[in-house]
Amino acid sequence: MTADELKKQAAYSALDHITTGGIIGVGTGSTVNHFIDALATIKGKIDGAVSSSIVSTKRLEAHGIEVFELNEVGTIQSYVDGADEANHYLQLIKGGGGALTREKIIAAASEKFICIADESKLIHVLGKFPLPVEVVPMSRSYVAREIVKLGGQPIYREGFVTDNSNVILDVHGWDIMEPISLEKTLNNIVGVVTNGLFAMRPADVLLLGSEDGTKVINPK
Ligand code: 5RP
Repeated sequence: MTADELKKQAAYSALDHITTGGIIGVGTGSTVNHFIDALATIKGKIDGAVSSSIVSTKRLEAHGIEVFELNEVGTIQSYVDGADEANHYLQLIKGGGGALTREKIIAAASEKFICIADESKLIHVLGKFPLPVEVVPMSRSYVAREIVKLGGQPIYREGFVTDNSNVILDVHGWDIMEPISLEKTLNNIVGVVTNGLFAMRPADVLLLGSEDGTKVINPK
């Protein structure tokens, strides 16, 4: 099976893990695109969605699924999103698609975070995938210098602007042994809006598409 077929398998499996009858939180990315298509098959059983990006909103609406602002709804029961890397504690690196800030907000506001991915995303130590950091544009060089002091190698994602009108630094060269500590440290640099470590609020369950069917991984 291709990586995309494995993503699709995980995405459709998520239907068995969401709480229907309410609003579903929806992430961003190629795996989530499959989930949105899957969600459309049960759209009569949900009230609508809260979306983490303009691109996901468009896909949801194209399927006739109503999209609400997070401020309009209460706590979300189920949030479904992909990841760039996951460890066995279900701490994640996210933001390859640049939607990390809204994704982190919806994850924080949700009871259950269901992460969907192909099985190549499960690794032992986070950091091989460059860690995205969303920054206010005028702070870009300053934040980059602070990250270098922490041992990272930040690369400006040129030509990319987030849905929040900010820019992204992708940080290479880190073996992230203490994800919670690094997440907090990066958050404390003035000018950082969000970083792509989802360690303080990890996923609650990880669904991995594999040749042997979808694997359900619970945190260690
Ligand atoms: C977007 C994300 C995505 O979830 C992450 O990049 C994984 O993407 P894909 O499902 O395309 O592999 O964090 O900001």
